[in-house]
Amino acid sequence: MKVGIDDISFYTSNYYLDLRTLAEVHNIDVEKYYVGIGQEQMGMPAPDEDVVTMGAAAALPIVRQLEQPESISTLLFATESGIDQSKSAGVFAHQLLGLPATCRVVELKQACYSATAAIQMACALVARQPQQRVLVIASDIARYDLDSSGEPTQGCGAVALLIAANPRLVEIEPLSGLHTEDVMDFWRPNYRSTALVDGKYSTKIYLKSLKSAWQHYRQQGGRSLREFAFFCYHLPFTRMAQKAHAHLLKLESAELTAAEAEAQITDTLQYNKRIGNSYTASMYIGLASLLENAREDISEKLIGFFSYGSGCVAEFYAGRVVPGYQQWLRKHEHQQLLANRQQVDYQTYRRLYAYPNPVDGQEHNIAAETTGPFRLAAINQHKRIYQAV
Ligand code: COA
Repeated sequence: MKVGIDDISFYTSNYYLDLRTLAEVHNIDVEKYYVGIGQEQMGMPAPDEDVVTMGAAAALPIVRQLEQPESISTLLFATESGIDQSKSAGVFAHQLLGLPATCRVVELKQACYSATAAIQMACALVARQPQQRVLVIASDIARYDLDSSGEPTQGCGAVALLIAANPRLVEIEPLSGLHTEDVMDFWRPNYRSTALVDGKYSTKIYLKSLKSAWQHYRQQGGRSLREFAFFCYHLPFTRMAQKAHAHLLKLESAELTAAEAEAQITDTLQYNKRIGNSYTASMYIGLASLLENAREDISEKLIGFFSYGSGCVAEFYAGRVVPGYQQWLRKHEHQQLLANRQQVDYQTYRRLYAYPNPVDGQEHNIAAETTGPFRLAAINQHKRIYQAV
């Protein structure tokens, strides 16, 4: 039986900072950001947005279109910027989306990797009971310290994927190559709102994990490199995909021209350049970018997915694009979402950076600001209160 991605939808905030603004403030050549790390803009959430409102906003078009929302048996919420140490962000999203009480919900965490774990678990559930569908939501706000080297690689975004039997978009093949290793390249202790990262080390571990996961995939009889037409890499910044792809091609002594190598990844990068890092969501926003921006019909083409989460866990797997996929995409809505965003100046960026994080249990009402369908209206007695806009 074929199992895979039946629907995909993403959301990002209405606000973005052009990295030219940041470069001017820091007196840095903007080409370092635009070319050196491959990022042009970064999304900044409004004060009344968080991973719950963004994740629910991403999933809403999928849930609305389902004739039987009760066929969603499970909601898996992947995030590394969760809002509670105990309660799953998914339970808040479940309520906002009006999902049935018979739907199981859980949150998954392993840095930027957990959406891939969620998808693999979802595929296993659907393989057991093909009539059920699993909603995977990946939602994150990437925040680094001001004036740190990670600052230009911030961003925010959420993606929702419906996993089902006989999927309309991408069939996921069962084989995976894996690599897990206890390393401290990126982490966020419970008392910190921003991540700690050893950036150069993390890119090295990313490449090492790619090699190990790919070799594990091949050792088990995985497909050869030349069978793949496209590669979706985890995208902490889009230049990372170019580094990763060059690494993989070199490892296999692949004889591709620079243009041929670039063509295997370039369409995956279009949205992330403008959204910034969205941690768990980033590779799957890259998939939406590929499906929606490919210059030709890519039906039947094989995509290699490399998912990486610092700390670290990595996975390589393959997916095949289903013929007729184009008619099920949300290309227009996604491109409108990005085109209609509002650019902010540096002062506004600093205001948005300091999002509300009260710890006193008092009543904190949050002014309405998001243009999304859901908002965090208040934090009262330590409880987050969400509402539809
Ligand atoms: N024009 C073009 N390119 C330029 C440039 C210019 N004017 N100035 C610098 N560059 C290039 C550098 O040569 C370098 O390219 P290379 O990587 O091919 O060597 C690139 O821009 C980055 O410059 P560098 O000085 O290495 O950047 P940095 O010290 O500011 O750090 C990161 C870059 C990516 C390490 C940093 O942004 C970071 O830590 N980001 C977070 C990392 C992360 O998310 N890790 C999680 C992994 S999943």
